[in-house]
Amino acid sequence: MPLDQYFTLGRSGLRVSRLALGTMTFGKDWGWGADERVSRAMFDRYLAVGGNFIDTADLYTGGQSESLLGGFIADVGVRDRVVLTTKFTYNAESGNPNAGGNGRKNIVRALEGSLRRLKTDYVDLYLLHTWDRVTPAEEVVRTLDDLVAAGKIRHAGLSDVPAWYASRIQSLAQAHGLHQLVNLQLQYSLVERNIEREFVPLAQELGYGITAWSPLAMGLLSGKYRPGETGGDASGEGRLQLFKDGAIPALEDKFTPRNFAIVAEVERIAKATGLSMPQVAIQWTARQPAIGSVILGARTLEQFEDNLGAFDKPLPDEILGRLDDVSALPQQFPYSFFEPTHQVGIHGGVGVGDKPAGYARPVWNEPAPQPVYAPDTKAAA
Ligand SMILES: NC(=O)c1ccc[n+]([C@@H]2O[C@H](COP(=O)([O-])OP(=O)(O)OC[C@H]3O[C@@H](n4cnc5c(N)ncnc54)[C@H](OP(=O)(O)O)[C@@H]3O)[C@@H](O)[C@H]2O)c1
Repeated sequence: MPLDQYFTLGRSGLRVSRLALGTMTFGKDWGWGADERVSRAMFDRYLAVGGNFIDTADLYTGGQSESLLGGFIADVGVRDRVVLTTKFTYNAESGNPNAGGNGRKNIVRALEGSLRRLKTDYVDLYLLHTWDRVTPAEEVVRTLDDLVAAGKIRHAGLSDVPAWYASRIQSLAQAHGLHQLVNLQLQYSLVERNIEREFVPLAQELGYGITAWSPLAMGLLSGKYRPGETGGDASGEGRLQLFKDGAIPALEDKFTPRNFAIVAEVERIAKATGLSMPQVAIQWTARQPAIGSVILGARTLEQFEDNLGAFDKPLPDEILGRLDDVSALPQQFPYSFFEPTHQVGIHGGVGVGDKPAGYARPVWNEPAPQPVYAPDTKAAA
């Protein structure tokens, strides 16, 4: 899949590559990123293969990621060619609650800082980075709409929020004729599939395209870690070793027996297909429902080159099925009640499977299509 094929993101006219350039590793400020030379090499390579979708945040490497990126984009002169994404939420001034969070005051402050570092006067896709638990959805949606109207951002979206909040925000935008959000950026990989319960159907229903972050579970799915003697420990050097033991509280330990079973299956499939383990894991992620683009993360040019080859060979359905099975989510309430077997009692034994070909889901804002009745064959007989 060459990156110069572009697909619309969510229900929008914004066209993006199926693999995005993640830049959380641009800069050494956090201790595990790439220096300017390697970051530039990855940026140049991404453009050379036709990529147009770039992700950063004001948080990343303390602003270095945005500054490096802004310099590269200006240097090459590709500002209008790229779809530049950045994010707000994280605090820039200790002791000042309004220098962080998702309130109107911080969104506007954060955007001005990002535009300065990115050396541009607009952002293509501006994302709320993380739910702050306090700001009303109305305030977020109105502020983002104002920024679109002011020409400072072209589109908006949400990252790490509860599904109910994403649903409320989009419903408010729709009900009030405001600019609708086009993107949900969420953690999604073979070892982290929780978004499938709520976010995937939500995105399909409300017009969000999902972009998947950490498709390699921060390196785990590359196979560089091996299970240890006891749960939680593992051998192998990489970013995850810095995060274990709660260095970042939101990142639960990824060294679990379940996850290592998934890694083992990815390894078997990689050997059988000739793809690398990262390529298998990235391709699986990209081919799941509602996924608009997968955000690549890499610390070295070699890793980046490897990851760019994720579509070199299409994985057959049988192999995708094996990956689905080994990583399947456990059944949970209330989702168990929505299984077709349980629904039989609701629908009087009449099937509730897929609609027949040609019976599309309602298109946004259009009335639900009326069923097209087949001729009454009994009457004709
Ligand atoms: N919205 C959010 O909250 C959020 C959160 C996280 C990330 N993101 C975005 O998503 C992007 C990707 O996230 P991520 O960096 O966590 O992705 P990832 O692909 O899961 O992990 C990337 C890391 O895995 C290792 N790696 C990557 N390719 C490899 C390969 N081919 N072989 C061996 N090891 C490899 C490297 O770490 P080592 O240092 O171990 O080599 C690399 O830094 C970020 O750049 C950022 O733009 C968003």
